[in-house]
Amino acid sequence: SETPASLIMIFGATGDLAKRKLYPSLYHLFRKGKLAEHFAVVGVARRPWTNEVLREHVKDSVLSSIHDAEDIEKFISHFYYQSHDVTDSQSYIQLKDLANQLDQKYSLEGNRIFYLAMAPEFFGTIAEHLKIDGLTDTDGFHRLVIEKPFGHDLDSAIQLNKQIRNVFSENDIYRIDHYLGKEMVQNIEVIRFANAIFEPQWNNRFISNIQITSSEMLGVEERGGYYETSGALRDMFQNHMLQMVALLAMEPPIRLTPKEIRSEKVKVLSALRSIENEEIKDYFVRGQYGPGEDNGQQLLGYREEMNVNPDSNTATFVAGKLMIDNFRWAGVPFYIRTGKRMTEKSTKIIIQFKDVPMNLYYNSEKKLAPNLLVIHIQPEEGITLHLNAKQSGQTMETTPVKLNFANNDVAGLNTPEAYEKLLFDCLRGDATNFTHWDEVALSWNFVDKISNFWENKKAEFPNYPAGSMGPEAADQLLEKDGFSWWPVS
Ligand code: BG6
Repeated sequence: SETPASLIMIFGATGDLAKRKLYPSLYHLFRKGKLAEHFAVVGVARRPWTNEVLREHVKDSVLSSIHDAEDIEKFISHFYYQSHDVTDSQSYIQLKDLANQLDQKYSLEGNRIFYLAMAPEFFGTIAEHLKIDGLTDTDGFHRLVIEKPFGHDLDSAIQLNKQIRNVFSENDIYRIDHYLGKEMVQNIEVIRFANAIFEPQWNNRFISNIQITSSEMLGVEERGGYYETSGALRDMFQNHMLQMVALLAMEPPIRLTPKEIRSEKVKVLSALRSIENEEIKDYFVRGQYGPGEDNGQQLLGYREEMNVNPDSNTATFVAGKLMIDNFRWAGVPFYIRTGKRMTEKSTKIIIQFKDVPMNLYYNSEKKLAPNLLVIHIQPEEGITLHLNAKQSGQTMETTPVKLNFANNDVAGLNTPEAYEKLLFDCLRGDATNFTHWDEVALSWNFVDKISNFWENKKAEFPNYPAGSMGPEAADQLLEKDGFSWWPVS
């Protein structure tokens, strides 16, 4: 199905996100016939580019990931560039004139998407100008797509939200959390609610703990400036990790509408046990990578990276234990860890079921392994169920077996990138996989207590070598509850 005619304005058109994700995703939609003839894109940024320069740039960005880019000339002919000063009304008035012309030329019916893919300090200003300078004065829809970070803490998020809500209604605000566009993150809900065997067991009577690991191999690269103000807690935990928790823990929605799904997620986030001050030590561990080695290659410590304070107190790793105090989850820890410069790039969810009431097959060498359901988010996409079966032969010994489903093995299936799906959803007006303000507010509320506590106390950093699975304290976090991290490879 096609998307409605629309004008897409990308603020930050010369930036990295537009180049790596947005242009290739738009091209994919175009090639699949999902972008109507009736679309135009205005790239907005400070640099004095022309339409031609932008079009070449878009073409390069598409060609760097897709070699056989059919119809690329036709695609880029829909792109226009406007050199822009985000604080100057004059710029917006010019932009409005261009938008109105394109509206006519492509019959866009006044439908507009404003995509802010740039430094967050201007989000509020841009939203206000869009209204004051008349860019939202058309008959069609007006949607704001906004990249993270959505504020730096609860106060700044409230501030930002006020500014954008002066112009756009909640229903027209699409706050991106790109994890919600990932195929296997979207699959969590389907695995849970389309299978009779899981949902009856999906609670504290049958599940002993849930583990979510999202590890990265890369360090901070050239993003030291941003990362110094964020750290792993704000960069990954406040958004991506808590979103996965909400999807794993929510009640079945009464129907699959954005309103119903998001309100179930909100309930999970409001049931998170709030932890404060000294208590935080029992629930959270922070880490920062020091120098290390990967296959003979020397890796810098975080404090040696570009634009990082040599004395930095910023966490590049965080592990936490979350308790969801409601009927379904009381007593079941959700263990989360995420960090930079770990041993591999991988995101996995492991659901560990409780042991059988007694073990008939126990012998001195072997304990019965618990049943695990593993949801592989990336790089591989799939599901594995760990069971125990009989070892073949004249024995009653057990042996672990795995039932595997690999999404990437489905013939002809080439999972679209998260951004392609999210752009498509936004064009169709489906906000399910975007975060509602209530989710953002509750997440910050939880995270702020931890970051405040940490910021007031100097950490003993670095505490894990680059290329490892994080500090030892992260293992102890589970050990004291009688658990351990399941290997993710
Ligand atoms: C982003 C963070 O939101 O997610 C990055 O800002 C991180 O620091 C990235 O690298 C991870 O996303 P993905 O899709 O590569 O797992």
